[in-house]
Amino acid sequence: MSDRGTFDTNVVTMTRFVMEEGRKAKGTGEMTTLLNSLCTAVKAISSAVRKAGIAHLYGIAGNINVTGDQVKKLDILSNDLVINMLKSSFTSCVLVSEENEKVIIVDSEQRVRQDQTGPGRNQSNQYLQGNAKDLVLFPQTTDDEPCEKDALQPGRDLVAAGYALYGSATMIVLSTGQGVNCFMLDPVSEFILVERDVKMKKRGKIYSLNEGYAKYFEPAVTEYLQRKKFPEDGSEPYGSRYIGSMVADVHRTLMYGGIFLYPGNVKSPKGKLRLLYECNPMAFIIEQAGGMASTGFENILDIQPESIHQRAPVAMGSPDDVLEYIAICKKHAKK
Ligand code: AHM
Repeated sequence: MSDRGTFDTNVVTMTRFVMEEGRKAKGTGEMTTLLNSLCTAVKAISSAVRKAGIAHLYGIAGNINVTGDQVKKLDILSNDLVINMLKSSFTSCVLVSEENEKVIIVDSEQRVRQDQTGPGRNQSNQYLQGNAKDLVLFPQTTDDEPCEKDALQPGRDLVAAGYALYGSATMIVLSTGQGVNCFMLDPVSEFILVERDVKMKKRGKIYSLNEGYAKYFEPAVTEYLQRKKFPEDGSEPYGSRYIGSMVADVHRTLMYGGIFLYPGNVKSPKGKLRLLYECNPMAFIIEQAGGMASTGFENILDIQPESIHQRAPVAMGSPDDVLEYIAICKKHAKK
């Protein structure tokens, strides 16, 4: 008799899933430890989100973050939670966050245990980078004292990436480089696997960007949007959706297909979104699900970062939609 009744007694939690993946890859268990710590942070943030109104966590805390945005109370709380949980997991050495101007170097006693290093087991299994909303994990590339340079790796070198969504349900979408899996928080227990090996549609029916900036768009963006609204091949026009939260907009794009854009414009040629902790994690997830992520000229994951808070123009989503956008960008570049 199957043990999968109304109450699943053989449920696949995120910890179980990552442990199984790690065992297949003959890993050390550090990734499981790190993700467990992150789950604790996400659960605490989820609880704070639910209490936000009553606990006065909405609104502006008065600070301006390093990229000039106003920092909200929930942002500060989530940032502190993620940093503290990552530090205390003994698996990280350098962290980067939108809210911190400089990289955070984890104290040496909070890095991987010394008795776990040594011949054939050097520090290369430590992970480098975190952010409150999106997470990317790089391997450390040298045995030297960790520094900012360790975080300046192209997205192509990522070991794992993910994001957390807080809404009517809390969800973690994670890729450890073998596809994309979604875990939903059962509020009284664990993150439960709800979508296995998510794959994107080849082409979607939705475009997503802030059209309020139309006055400043590059001609390629204007032409692309014109084609979506007035298709010349007689097909139906695309629908438009824009929440204004990258995680939510990219999540919808992942699930339903289409394209999410935050292009450069004449006022900000590199757009708004940050390469290391916004574009890269989302690009990694999208590629792992069979989609594409590009600046219009270069794959996001191939960009060599020069600074931790640098921005990159981005178009990501269903491969045929992104390829169409790239072709228009290239056509305009030749003019
Ligand atoms: P943030 O730096 O305040 O987090 O801004 C990033 C957010 C993204 O989540 C979203 O895609 C974008 O800003 C929306 O920007 P705009 O209001 O210019 O459309």
